[in-house]
Amino acid sequence: MNSVRMTEVGPRDGLQNEAAHIPTAKKIQFVDHLSAAGFPEIEVTSFVSAKWVAQLGDAVEVMRGITRRPGTIYSALVPNERGLDGALEARVDKVSVFISATEGFSQHNTNGSVDEVLARIAPVVTRAQAAQLPVRGYISCVIRCPYDGVVDPAQVVTICARMLELGVDELDLGDTIGAADPDSISRLYDAIAVIIEPRKTTLHLHDTHGRAIACACRALEIGVRSFDASVGGLGGCPYAPGSRGNVATETLARAIVNAGFDPHIDIQRAAEAGLWMRQQLASTREASI
Ligand code: HMG
Ligand code: MG
Repeated sequence: MNSVRMTEVGPRDGLQNEAAHIPTAKKIQFVDHLSAAGFPEIEVTSFVSAKWVAQLGDAVEVMRGITRRPGTIYSALVPNERGLDGALEARVDKVSVFISATEGFSQHNTNGSVDEVLARIAPVVTRAQAAQLPVRGYISCVIRCPYDGVVDPAQVVTICARMLELGVDELDLGDTIGAADPDSISRLYDAIAVIIEPRKTTLHLHDTHGRAIACACRALEIGVRSFDASVGGLGGCPYAPGSRGNVATETLARAIVNAGFDPHIDIQRAAEAGLWMRQQLASTREASI
């Protein structure tokens, strides 16, 4: 009853925006540190085009190098069938497809309209499920788009419904640029409750304006029981100007505990993993100057 599920997205969302090249061995070590903190799910990398996100061009090597902890799901972002081929070859446990609630971000992030992206990911969902892999469906820009501005919750509902029609197992709502406040979270879930219960969704908050914890607390009140976060608040999206890190895992986990729930992770170890990665990033940046 009191369980809250935390997915660690630091190795993917946390590192994808980093300009200086992070050695593959460091990424593997990072995931191994996170595994020791007992996350039920870690989003390890992306099987996207390296022309679009050069930092994660070593997805196969990272997936192959990590030590898998029984009980942790090791997932990855997949934009198209080519990405799925790589993900299957690297034996991911779960596939995350992604789409935007808005046309502007869809074009900038995935070089296609919302309809085109839906058509692109449809066979990814079908093939992933044929391979018996669960599929997470991200919907970005659920509050505001860096290109199209404020997003009407009704628009998000439409995209959520289309993702459910494709057969995704989980809807993950992304406040890509950290524009949410608690009331906008309430409005979003009021609208979405018509097609899916809040406790069946995951909320993916970025902390651009320092409101992510307040938003998460409101979401807990509404009934949301699954959140993404990145240790140390690492992160940002290269195609969402102004986006900052995800809500910090350790801060969110403490807020979850304070609200009377159990996030089922070792918060101290998670915080140490974030500190360790921040130190690696500092030395990587220094070496690249
Ligand atoms: P495109 O340029 O239209 O694709 O990109 P294309 O099919 O024309 O291919 C172009 C080149 O990329 C070709 O290579 C393909 O082979 C190659 P070339 O022939 O020129 O040598 N290619 C690939 N290579 C490796 N893996 C692949 C792949 N696909 C094509 N899977 C595409 C379309 C979707 C591929 C591109 O736009 C892309 O990769 N976009 C991903 C951008 C991204 O990763 N953004 C960040 C993640 S989303 C996010 O952060 C939001 C989230 O956190 C939630 C939230 O906060 O809201 C999830
Ligand atoms: Mg994100």
